[in-house]
Amino acid sequence: MSRKLIAGNWKMNGSLAANEALLKGVLGGLNAPACDIAVCVPSAYLAQCQTLLAGSPVALGAQDVSQHEAGAFTGEISTAMLKEFGVRYAIVGHSERRQYHGETDAVVAAKAQRALAGGVTPIVCVGETLAEREAGKTEEVVKRQLAAVIHLNGHCISEIVVAYEPVWAIGTGKTATPEQAQAVHAVLRAQLKAATPQSDRIAILYGGSMNAANAAQLLAQPDIDGGLIGGAALKAPDFLTIIAAAH
Ligand code: 13P
Repeated sequence: MSRKLIAGNWKMNGSLAANEALLKGVLGGLNAPACDIAVCVPSAYLAQCQTLLAGSPVALGAQDVSQHEAGAFTGEISTAMLKEFGVRYAIVGHSERRQYHGETDAVVAAKAQRALAGGVTPIVCVGETLAEREAGKTEEVVKRQLAAVIHLNGHCISEIVVAYEPVWAIGTGKTATPEQAQAVHAVLRAQLKAATPQSDRIAILYGGSMNAANAAQLLAQPDIDGGLIGGAALKAPDFLTIIAAAH
């Protein structure tokens, strides 16, 4: 990997006023960043954020995308619609979507495939629950989740971004230690290597309570190519500190 990627996932947070203040704070504090940067915003704010980010080094991302192309799918948003707002990335298979919206590995793979076909880079999330970790099943779970995407998308797998987000670390303040994260990233890296000769192009991000204080240590691990940041991406100074740690 050449440049790391720091992506904020705002989740269901924000308002017109708060978004403007946050993005102005982030853009105002950027100083020749050495990494790629994105913010994945609620769909309702894509147009606003596209305008605020125009001409900046911060790419626009969505938090989900439909597995369908178009038609009678009330509430869903297509890749083509995202493209109209300059969206570069779409998170797919976030654990909150898997948990609260019943998204299966097959649905996640279909979404990733649809995004890729339409020219949006899917950020595919994988990660084990606390119960799965305690049962010694971490490797088995993340490999199964990643395999679904690899096998359905064989032709363009090198265009995805992978995010390892241990469910027990999301929003809990319990970050994986750099060693715990690195161990899983190495497993994912090996799986990608076995799947494609272009695995070097695939960034593997860490997500789960990454913050201004712990980012540097996590990002120093050999197989951690960036971060997917929730809470800390909502505060400009914290997000900027994480960006500065990614080089
Ligand atoms: P937190 O950084 O708030 O733990 O969220 C991580 C996450 O889920 C990013 O997608």
